[in-house]
Amino acid sequence: MDYQAILDRLQKDFIPDTAMGNVAGYIPELSKANPLKFGIYLYAHDGSFYEFGDSQEKFSIQSISKVFTLTIAKELLGKELWKRVNVEPSGSSFNSLTELEREKGIPRNPFINAGSIVVADALLTVLDNPKKDLLKFVRKLCGSEDIHFDESVARSEKKHGYRNKALVNYMKSLGNITNDTEDILDFYFYQCSLAMTCDQLSKAFMLYANEGKHFRTQEQVIDPQSVKRINAIMQTCGFYDEAGEFSYRVGLPGKSGVGGGIVAVHPQHYSVTVWSPMLNDKGNSALGMKVLEELTTLTGLSIF
Ligand code: DON
Repeated sequence: MDYQAILDRLQKDFIPDTAMGNVAGYIPELSKANPLKFGIYLYAHDGSFYEFGDSQEKFSIQSISKVFTLTIAKELLGKELWKRVNVEPSGSSFNSLTELEREKGIPRNPFINAGSIVVADALLTVLDNPKKDLLKFVRKLCGSEDIHFDESVARSEKKHGYRNKALVNYMKSLGNITNDTEDILDFYFYQCSLAMTCDQLSKAFMLYANEGKHFRTQEQVIDPQSVKRINAIMQTCGFYDEAGEFSYRVGLPGKSGVGGGIVAVHPQHYSVTVWSPMLNDKGNSALGMKVLEELTTLTGLSIF
């Protein structure tokens, strides 16, 4: 596959334009992002890589971090985790409160905010220092020590995270939260504040495109069955109420974040990250969705 020619074509055909969407405004620190940033990095299964634009610039990975925390929680807790969070698409926005009452405080899936907050709670119970362990895990996955939390983003969200405060308190009242709610939110906001480049994210996500093996050392980090399950959740829940649309248009498992990043994986082929901070009304990168749709059209390959 001539990925270089395909990326050259994408770079020529997709020019960011401020009319495409809006930078996330509900976390004040994120609203400072330059809407015209645009980068892509594709890491192929054979070790070759292809990139253009702002692919080496760090951005706030936000909800993409939910895949990492789920992976760690699944390893440590196994099936126990699924007593507290389901694996069904929600069909509603990432920060919705409405299903929780009907479903008695058990979030629909681990990628909506409520679900990832439950995962954060579970990690707080089993780890002495979840922030340190998360950093260690992500640094290992992408083979770079240069990965940090962005304190100003974490603080900004802590100050303005009214929805997440409502979610954790509501779940606490329904008996699905164990630890102190402030401690859980502190960890959750820090995980979301991780700053990474398209390059680092694509390498880290090779785990899910390479049967659970590290992209460089080929060490088996998680088993292939876990990869199957996490990819299935990305496919059905990775884009909230736009998961069907992403599946239909792109045809790959993936995960978005309100920092404007999207990572998608094509098992046995590649892992790819696009960053463009302008979001559509579902909170997913507007340009990122279009670029990935064109990528799978031009390659003529998807998992379907
Ligand atoms: O909790 C929040 O609202 C943010 N820290 C993360 C949301 C997010 O990235 C949704 N994804 N598109």
